[in-house]
Amino acid sequence: MYKYDEYDQRLVDERVEQFRDQVKRRLSGELSEEEFRPLRLMNGIYLQMHAYMLRVGIPYGTMNSTQMRQFAYIARKYDKGYGHFTTRQNLQFNWPKLVDLPDILADLAKVQSHAIQTSGSCIRAITSDQYAGAAVDELEDPRPWSEILRQWSSLHPEFTYLPRKFKIAVTGATSDRAAVAIHDIGLRIRRDDQGELGFEVMVGGGLGRTPMIGKTICEFLPKEDLLSYVEAILRVYNQFGRRDNKYKARIKILVHELGADKFADLVEKEWEAIRDSDLHLPIDEIDEFKLHFTAPSFESLPAFSSSFSEQVSADQDFAYWIQNNVKEHKQQGYAIANISLKPIGGIPGDVSHVQMDALADLADRFSFGELRSTHEQNLVLPHVKRDDLYVLWQELAKHDLATPNSGLITDLIACPGLDYCNLANSRSIPLAQRISKRFGELDRQHEIGKIQVKISGCINACTHHHVGHIGILGVDKKGQEFYQITLGGRADENAKIGKIIGAGFSTEDVVDAVETIINTYLGLRENKEETFLEAFNRVGDKPFKEALYGTR
Ligand code: HEM
Ligand code: SF4
Repeated sequence: MYKYDEYDQRLVDERVEQFRDQVKRRLSGELSEEEFRPLRLMNGIYLQMHAYMLRVGIPYGTMNSTQMRQFAYIARKYDKGYGHFTTRQNLQFNWPKLVDLPDILADLAKVQSHAIQTSGSCIRAITSDQYAGAAVDELEDPRPWSEILRQWSSLHPEFTYLPRKFKIAVTGATSDRAAVAIHDIGLRIRRDDQGELGFEVMVGGGLGRTPMIGKTICEFLPKEDLLSYVEAILRVYNQFGRRDNKYKARIKILVHELGADKFADLVEKEWEAIRDSDLHLPIDEIDEFKLHFTAPSFESLPAFSSSFSEQVSADQDFAYWIQNNVKEHKQQGYAIANISLKPIGGIPGDVSHVQMDALADLADRFSFGELRSTHEQNLVLPHVKRDDLYVLWQELAKHDLATPNSGLITDLIACPGLDYCNLANSRSIPLAQRISKRFGELDRQHEIGKIQVKISGCINACTHHHVGHIGILGVDKKGQEFYQITLGGRADENAKIGKIIGAGFSTEDVVDAVETIINTYLGLRENKEETFLEAFNRVGDKPFKEALYGTR
């Protein structure tokens, strides 16, 4: 994992002290809330419905156990005992007091963590594949590249006041677990005809009011050119992005209005001017970054383990967890353990301080002290010995962290909605809980198979509902909460925006509507292997519409 050098550390320490003074001035009344706003936002602090909210950045979703323990400490000491993992792989604390915030940031800085650029019109924390360094289908580890981008973008003088926020995601695998196509810039490591690795660059993806899938503007970018090319994109955006209308300010609108080809030409021109500048990355410097992300000291283990096989056949509950939550690792004898933050009827993404401490201990015992957060609001222990899985599972179960529902219908994604967020039109959390309970029975979930349900409390689309297999959007109709449903979206390597199925449903009816959709799928699928998405793509939305709204 990347370790701060003295410059990194000084940067975060100095930011804390600057902010301490700003908070002091706010508390004394010297600064109004209005004046304080841009200052707090630069430190990841929002004002929600009932309290301030702190968004802690977790660059590319990689954490160590020391950081997780510190999150637990912060949750316990300054908050109501829990934190909330989000679709940006970040962690939000919902109840900090303003007076404590400088101390919280100082405590984060002690463990090389911060909240800089987790809000505001700047380049946000870079997201990536939670299985980085462990995935079987990985061409190259995306983390060194994410870290290079993080260092380049942190407090970049030219890009601290962009027209709007800016999100970059990187994947190095053939399966896209980082949803790169719905980011302002999506980077996909790929191989060219000569076998060289470089980047496919996508630009102009994003959700919110005008959802769009990114367009590829460069099929293959040599690695050494990554920073100069990305900087060229940002320069074009900074120059031409709309600042007159907040709703048209994202780069997706610029790319859409100009057309991807014209946009690519502008980037190309800008790039030529800076390609050979000090943004050019020499191979030896790239290698330096890679040294921070070398594989842990894996043992060499046999391909087959009889004790593991016996445990799986002896314990059905364990077998379910293995089947759903555990993925193959590129190192023989190891596995990737997905930890569900979606207990049946629970609040998606919430973790208590006790759970955080337990997770830190388990990461130390079983995964070289490493943890990951995912854009599906879950956690991952990336490097677990297959023969440790049984004990790990038992330990997780003690803390309600062993729900075997990864990728199943109760692995729901939901934003804070009206319970916390002052932009919300409707509640998301109670709806997620009701759907989770309705489908809580495990056999039924297995019967239904892989499916993603994503619930946003407003059009900002914080949960990526547009790309949910079933997306649910809360809308306000004359003071009443309604839920609009989209079907057939996906956020993977074949990313697609879902289709709105028809008129929205009331709070009372929406869970039934989801059940009708599920039953319709179960009735029309060709066999048990055909997933919801495959069936939907085969038959289209008609049978679902009929089931929901009748034939007339
Ligand atoms: C205080 C709470 C929050 C506020 C005020 C907030 C605000 C917003 C706004 C205004 C947008 C629309 C941006 C645009 O289209 O330009 C947005 C989008 C988004 N937010 Fe949030 N959000 C909050 C919480 C969250 C949470 C909890 C998550 C994760 C669960 C999240 C992740 C995202 C994502 C992934 C998007 C979509 C970005 C895109 O347009 O591509 N946000 N948020
Ligand atoms: S989707 Fe809307 S309601 Fe939900 S967190 Fe985002 S801004 Fe708030």
